[in-house]
Amino acid sequence: MGNDKRILINPSILNANFDDLENEINKVSTVSDAIHLDIMDNKFVPNLSFDFKRAAEIIEFSTLPIDAHLMIEDPDTIAPQYAQIGCDSVSFHFEAAKNCRQIIANIKSNGAKVGMAIKPATPLSAIEEFLDVIDMLVVMTVEPGFGGQAFMSEQMLKVSQARAKINLSKGEPVLLQVDGGISLTTISEAALAGANCFVAGSAVYKDSNPAEIVTKLRELAKNSFKI
Ligand code: DX5
Ligand code: ZN
Repeated sequence: MGNDKRILINPSILNANFDDLENEINKVSTVSDAIHLDIMDNKFVPNLSFDFKRAAEIIEFSTLPIDAHLMIEDPDTIAPQYAQIGCDSVSFHFEAAKNCRQIIANIKSNGAKVGMAIKPATPLSAIEEFLDVIDMLVVMTVEPGFGGQAFMSEQMLKVSQARAKINLSKGEPVLLQVDGGISLTTISEAALAGANCFVAGSAVYKDSNPAEIVTKLRELAKNSFKI
């Protein structure tokens, strides 16, 4: 079957308190599926977040699996290294990749699941041929680079097209992740379009009760997601 009923909520720590990330992760650890770790190199996107050494430390102390999102120029070289240090999944950008099939194979052989991320301007047709060999498709619902931006509703057509393709495929179900601007007011729309994995950064960490927000996000997504 090309689909299932799982809903995954992965808080992004990009807008959490960088000086106390262990505690920030622990605030959501009993209610979340993974921590979304945004890696930015100031080249592929105009911002810097965590370097490799800091990422390795976070993976080490995190009580949740790490869903790494690499917004970097050279995923061909670097993505497998994130698999090696223990990420549960490693998502790389199609737009930055030189040899997608090779990156996918190298991430898998280093023990992580593979995600492929596409920017808002990239059509689904560009990556369709990879749907059989990846574990997760990441549809960006903001321009990658910064947390706290407005959700791009216009990306929902791409999400529903991706959902239709995934449901037709016979292999293991590909997770359909949306990343950017997900909040209590936008998650239902994304779930209705067919997303089943949700990254939420500022909506979770700008609130005084991050765990409660995660729980509410999950409820809303469950109510709107239909196969
Ligand atoms: C944007 C990042 C997102 C973002 C999520 O480049 O990939 O993961 O930080 O944060 P919010 O939920 O605030 O848009
Ligand atoms: Zn991200």
